[in-house]
Amino acid sequence: MSEATSPGWRAWAPGKVILLGEHAVVYGRTALAGAIERGVTVTVERIATGLVVEVAGVLPGGDSDRDRLRVAVEQAARAWEVEPEGLRVRVAADLPIAVGLGSSAALSVALVQAFAALAGRAPSRPQVCEAAFGIERFFHGFPSGIDNTVATYGGLLAFRRGEPHRCLPTAAAVPLVVALGREPRQTRSAVERLRAAWEKDRGGFEARFDRIADLVKTAEEALAAGNWQELGLLFDENHRVLAELGVSTPELDAMVALAREAGARGAKLTGGGGGGAVICLCPEDRTRLVARLRAAGWQAFATELRPVMDERHVERSGGLGSLDPAPLAVVGDPVG
Ligand code: PMV
Repeated sequence: MSEATSPGWRAWAPGKVILLGEHAVVYGRTALAGAIERGVTVTVERIATGLVVEVAGVLPGGDSDRDRLRVAVEQAARAWEVEPEGLRVRVAADLPIAVGLGSSAALSVALVQAFAALAGRAPSRPQVCEAAFGIERFFHGFPSGIDNTVATYGGLLAFRRGEPHRCLPTAAAVPLVVALGREPRQTRSAVERLRAAWEKDRGGFEARFDRIADLVKTAEEALAAGNWQELGLLFDENHRVLAELGVSTPELDAMVALAREAGARGAKLTGGGGGGAVICLCPEDRTRLVARLRAAGWQAFATELRPVMDERHVERSGGLGSLDPAPLAVVGDPVG
């Protein structure tokens, strides 16, 4: 392998959970989402020749994921007029991949930031977000832009296509448990399947998107007041409507049911569905809920959503001038 000829740049961007409003957001409704503490780290360094792309860990889609990653790398490089040649790019994630937690957007934002630094540029956040959206389009076909917005800005926000996002005030950090299903899935195919169904029954689907928009509106108030009881009920109702839209699965329904039975105030699938992750609102004993989910065979972890990015996130994902070009730590078990 070629040796590095100069120090590199390292950038990090967070994954996300959608609290309410996934899929409806593709059709112009508002969704609420927040960054989680797990994300994707990209290191870029110059080498003598070639383009070497290394991934710490296993990609669920194997060689086809590897090919897509390479295209994303080339796209991020070209966004800042860097020739994708004479470069080594390393990618590591402590975020589970392809489960609806925004791993492709976190990757896109981290790539864009790392290449901007390599090119000696200091892009604004809207510029980062736009460049990352271009890569998201390559991954997902018809994304709403919510994932790359959260990965760029962090914090907790309301997003509606074509409008500036709004940062959400909350009475307290949102206490969640995230559980991961075992079914293989892809956001792109979940979105495409729903689009085909919408084509056949626009009235029925639009009415459900409107119902979700109402839930989102009420959820904003519940979040501002820290009313977890109300927010939990809204999670439950949003999950029911998502199931009617055809994006839940028996496994996701079982995870949601177990979470509620084990003390969560509410639970729902998050992200594209068709498999993937579930979020459980759990202000009380999150350790116990994590243990119950794991005992039933699902990976799970606790996380809290905070209204604004803390210093560390800004430092690691946005403050490129001060990023440490240290070697990338290899990340272990993604769900701890
Ligand atoms: O599965 P994820 O994490 O990529 O989330 C997808 C969210 C959708 O609303 C289903 C699609 C989108 O682009 O907003």
